[in-house]
Amino acid sequence: RVLARAIATHGEIQPDDIDLILEEKRQSIRQTQILDFYPATEKISDIGGLDNLKDWLLRRGGSFSERARQYGLPHPRGLLLAGIQGTGKSLTAKAIAHHWHLPLLRLDVGRLFGGLVGESESRTRQMIQLSEALAPCVLWIDEIDKAFAGANSQGDAGTTSRVFGTFITWMAEKTSPVFIVATANNIQTLPPELLRRGRFDEIFFVGLPSQDERREIFSVHLSRLRPHTLQDFDLERLAYETPDFSGAEIEQMLVEAMHTGFSQNRDFTTDDILEAASQIVPLARTAKDQIEVLQAWAAAGKARMASRSGNQILGGAAFN
Ligand SMILES: Nc1ncnc2c1ncn2[C@@H]1O[C@H](COP(=O)(O)OP(=O)(O)O)[C@@H](O)[C@H]1O
Ligand SMILES: [Mg+2]
Repeated sequence: RVLARAIATHGEIQPDDIDLILEEKRQSIRQTQILDFYPATEKISDIGGLDNLKDWLLRRGGSFSERARQYGLPHPRGLLLAGIQGTGKSLTAKAIAHHWHLPLLRLDVGRLFGGLVGESESRTRQMIQLSEALAPCVLWIDEIDKAFAGANSQGDAGTTSRVFGTFITWMAEKTSPVFIVATANNIQTLPPELLRRGRFDEIFFVGLPSQDERREIFSVHLSRLRPHTLQDFDLERLAYETPDFSGAEIEQMLVEAMHTGFSQNRDFTTDDILEAASQIVPLARTAKDQIEVLQAWAAAGKARMASRSGNQILGGAAFN
């Protein structure tokens, strides 16, 4: 329809029309209120560590191209990223969309379930139709564990189970290039059907960063914050002194350290960062049980390690 309008106006398709089409897509998405267009500017190089996961993605660089179809490759179908909060799962979802130059659609699962009885199913179908209409695209389902806790596709009468049934059937049968990235903090409540082969191309366990990975995460963020004075920071020491901290917590301590420096009219230093770290209690220490469950699950071969240093499931010594 938009194309027809564009052709009618200009007699051909011009670069401006692409913007027109994108804007039109944005409008249609906004109307449904279930999906959001999410701007994705993060790059794979913005992810510190997670080398196995990054390799997996880099090996699939051109896999949504026409050339890949001619080669006979199927479209990648999707990934499930499981692990505790703040380890870069959402970041990865954004980087994937950017890497493949695909629009990123974020599903608001809460909105799927709000409203009147019976509405959830029709919204689910609407969401599926819309993402197929916008394909190729990345459909990002953040914290899918919260949405489908306790559901089963053998259809008891519950709304959750019916929505889940519709969704899982679509996942198994879809041929359109909608790449699903689902993230989960808790795998215990996930319906087992979701974890079965053929739903996702791969399930990755995203653990706490190892020392090497923490160095990379510091490097990623400090190169962005202080590109010209990066060498003034002692990355080795920062990585060594911050076992159990997640990427999100590393980012948080950098912001704290910047406040310190800024308030004293000077630049922030390695010591400021370490001082900030000493004020933060890593989630890893309070969520120990949850991490151990995830660890056991991953160790049982239910998921691939996102990190190369496979024995480094827990970030540091706190659990020995
Ligand atoms: N591996 C990482 N490399 C670089 N930054 C990270 C990493 N993990 C987390 N971060 C930082 O923390 C922020 C929050 O992480 P996020 O991806 O939302 O975690 P999750 O989705 O696993 O809870 C990110 O936007 C990023 O700035
Ligand atoms: Mg997240």
